[in-house]
Amino acid sequence: MAYAMAAATTGGSEVIHKIDIDMPSPAAGEVVIRHAAIGINFIDIYIRTGAYPWPVERDLILGSEAAGVIEVVGEGVSALAVGDRVAYTIPNGAYATHRAINADLVVRLPDAIPFEVGAAIMLKGLTVAYLLRDSYAVKSGDTVLFHAAAGGVGLLAGQWLKSLGATVIGTAGGAQKCALAAANAYDHVIDYNSADVAAEVMRLTGDAGVHCAYDSVGQDTMATSLAVTRRHGTIVNFGQASGPYTDFKIGDLAVGSLHLTRPSLFHFVADRAWLEAACADLFARVMDGTLDVSINQTFALEDVAAAHNALAARQTTGCTVLTP
Ligand SMILES: NC(=O)c1ccc[n+]([C@@H]2O[C@H](COP(=O)([O-])OP(=O)(O)OC[C@H]3O[C@@H](n4cnc5c(N)ncnc54)[C@H](OP(=O)(O)O)[C@@H]3O)[C@@H](O)[C@H]2O)c1
Repeated sequence: MAYAMAAATTGGSEVIHKIDIDMPSPAAGEVVIRHAAIGINFIDIYIRTGAYPWPVERDLILGSEAAGVIEVVGEGVSALAVGDRVAYTIPNGAYATHRAINADLVVRLPDAIPFEVGAAIMLKGLTVAYLLRDSYAVKSGDTVLFHAAAGGVGLLAGQWLKSLGATVIGTAGGAQKCALAAANAYDHVIDYNSADVAAEVMRLTGDAGVHCAYDSVGQDTMATSLAVTRRHGTIVNFGQASGPYTDFKIGDLAVGSLHLTRPSLFHFVADRAWLEAACADLFARVMDGTLDVSINQTFALEDVAAAHNALAARQTTGCTVLTP
């Protein structure tokens, strides 16, 4: 029996409910995937709550990354075959046992990478790939600030940044999360629940500030990110876990001839050449051990509302994965 977890409308996690779905059949250019594991991401919460655009009338199947096995291949698809292990990231539709999807958005998952890991890294790991190469090209010797260091994206980013030769300063909420980030290659971790982050970053950098501040927390941290980025440095705002940062004027960048960008992963993965190159790099880093993927919470697909509640309440670390 095929089923999915859909949000009836925008709202709290109680809007998520189970729906029976027909076994999908592929249109031309599509494949049907039987999901083996599905990733949970903060974007699922933004969409469910209405903070990000809500694309359908009602019963939106949430979920934006997954891994599984191809069950049916549509007309015109030659690069993929029935039985292939695959993974993908696109907005919505992943909280389901099966789905049809455009084959151009799907990549083969190496046998050495378990489905749970594939489902955890397609959105979060590819995000780290573009953040560190495309939004700001991190160089050996750079000093970088990364907020929410103990989260899904944060734990991967610390390890990847360290492998590039950067000095990595993280922030996280509470002693346990700070210790976890430190164990995942962060050189310094500041507890933003209790410390003066700006003062501490300036102390750690000898008052120079950081080359790049990666900020997905938004409202609570963007003023600090602007204050601690060095002259000609870059701020990458790529999320808003604490709410959108609205108290901003273009003139704020004049304090240090700063660069600011607000990227979205889905603009990168839409480019097939980028997707293939970034997946090759990401998968190689997982297989050679540069990236140790922490799946610290697993839930049954039917219990996805509880997973949302844990992520929204800051009770998770690393990646969270659902199994159908
Ligand atoms: N633009 C893109 O392309 C893109 C792609 C992927 C992810 N993202 C963004 O990257 C961020 C991390 O995503 P993720 O899925 O890996 O989530 P996550 O980091 O595992 O979870 C979010 C973390 O944000 C911190 N946080 C700070 N203030 C918060 C608040 N008021 N409510 C909830 N959490 C708060 C919490 O860590 P502490 O308890 O340590 O504060 C929480 O664990 C999200 O903002 C997400 O939207 C953006």
